[in-house]
Amino acid sequence: MATADITPRVLITGASQGIGKAILLGLARSGHFVLGLSRTRPEEPANRAQSGESDRLDWKPLDLSNAAGVAQCAASLEAMPVRALVLSAVDYGANERHSSTATSAEEWQRVIATNCTGQCVLVSCMLPKLTANSPGIIVNVSSDVALLPGTGRAAYAASKAGLHAMLRAVSAEYPIERLRVYQLVPTFQLVTTGLRRRRPAGFDFSSYADPSVMAEIVEQIVSTSGRSIEPATYLVRRDGTLDPYSEPTQI
Ligand SMILES: NC(=O)c1ccc[n+]([C@@H]2O[C@H](COP(=O)([O-])OP(=O)(O)OC[C@H]3O[C@@H](n4cnc5c(N)ncnc54)[C@H](OP(=O)(O)O)[C@@H]3O)[C@@H](O)[C@H]2O)c1
Repeated sequence: MATADITPRVLITGASQGIGKAILLGLARSGHFVLGLSRTRPEEPANRAQSGESDRLDWKPLDLSNAAGVAQCAASLEAMPVRALVLSAVDYGANERHSSTATSAEEWQRVIATNCTGQCVLVSCMLPKLTANSPGIIVNVSSDVALLPGTGRAAYAASKAGLHAMLRAVSAEYPIERLRVYQLVPTFQLVTTGLRRRRPAGFDFSSYADPSVMAEIVEQIVSTSGRSIEPATYLVRRDGTLDPYSEPTQI
């Protein structure tokens, strides 16, 4: 059996572009076996063969908007040990900001199915594998709209808040020796394919950060099996520092 078949993998959703792709490549470069999940295959870096990442990088098609398909994909991974799951897939919804009344039934359904339901199904299917490789690690690339009003982006906000709440519940179901859940909330914007598509031609991205900021944090969490950073929700600053976010625990 090849090493890749028995070495626990890191699964990454949204691996074809943006922050997810930066995480996929960053982890492979630092020696982790990774499996990217997305509808389209991530383009390979030009120097991939020389950099020795090839045997550590794998990809599988996954459409998160189809919950039954997510469960099937998870079942197809039955023989694969998994030590970490990174959630970075997103459907941002319609390009322009728009009111809740202007949000179509199709947009509510698609955005919540992709960002919330599909990733919740994946998490629940992967929990037995993750906790079998204790401590299993889940990293959610979250968003400020999960915590604050996402004006003009209600479907996106609802989907991110739903996933955020699901992961808080999951985190409370396990002791940290078995499962460590991280929710990373960027407090700045990053240049990604998804955001480029949403900005007008000629937009000045000079104040936006590179996705490598997020990739380096995830690499630190995964490489130390979460022991260097306490599992929690963090506000991520532009310089890569983390401020713990105080989630309400009682009302
Ligand atoms: N960029 C920012 O400034 C920023 C700021 C705060 C938070 N975030 C968060 O960071 C994360 C990544 O954002 P990003 O800007 O890197 O996104 P992005 O460039 O738009 O990439 C989105 C990824 O999600 C995948 N995806 C979309 N629909 C899918 C579906 N139905 N099934 C499976 N995969 C699907 C896409 O792959 P396929 O199309 O190949 O399926 C792609 O790999 C998101 O959670 C977002 O909320 C981003």
